[in-house]
Amino acid sequence: MKKREHLFSYEEYESQAELNPSDAELLKKAREVTKDAYAPYSKFRVGAAARLSNGQIITGTNQENASFPVGICAERVLMSTASSLFPGVAIETLAVSYHNENGPSDIPISPCGICRQSLQEFEHRTGKPIRLIMGGETGAVYIIPQSGILLPFAFDADKL
Ligand code: THU
Repeated sequence: MKKREHLFSYEEYESQAELNPSDAELLKKAREVTKDAYAPYSKFRVGAAARLSNGQIITGTNQENASFPVGICAERVLMSTASSLFPGVAIETLAVSYHNENGPSDIPISPCGICRQSLQEFEHRTGKPIRLIMGGETGAVYIIPQSGILLPFAFDADKL
């Protein structure tokens, strides 16, 4: 038997003000688009903004449904937009933020399990890591260099 360890490190910033200008711009955009979320059920408005490898900036927001499981997270709306408008183009950096109408919005958001699976497949298919900026409306910001590290032992296309 061998004991193995799987660790990852991340950057923590005190606020958006501490980010480099291009990351700050992306997080600001993610915060702005939370207003476009369709979240009448959870009242939890999520915004995502990404810089693609072709220089384009695109956004996404969560889109809910009266049949709850039909709703889609902001991250997956953004990835679908990216691959529909710019097929084959990688996502360099993705920023996510939120506005919780029922409570504070100052703890960095992190993608749900389904989005983690989708993010790692997007990285796999484009062959490029997606740098992930996780923030709230205010407060601390976390940055990881590669979204896939949020899903250790992921199931991917190589296993099929
Ligand atoms: N949601 C996202 O859009 N992204 C996340 O990273 C976490 C959760 C959405 C799903 C649902 O519409 C609402 O937030 C509450 O779970």
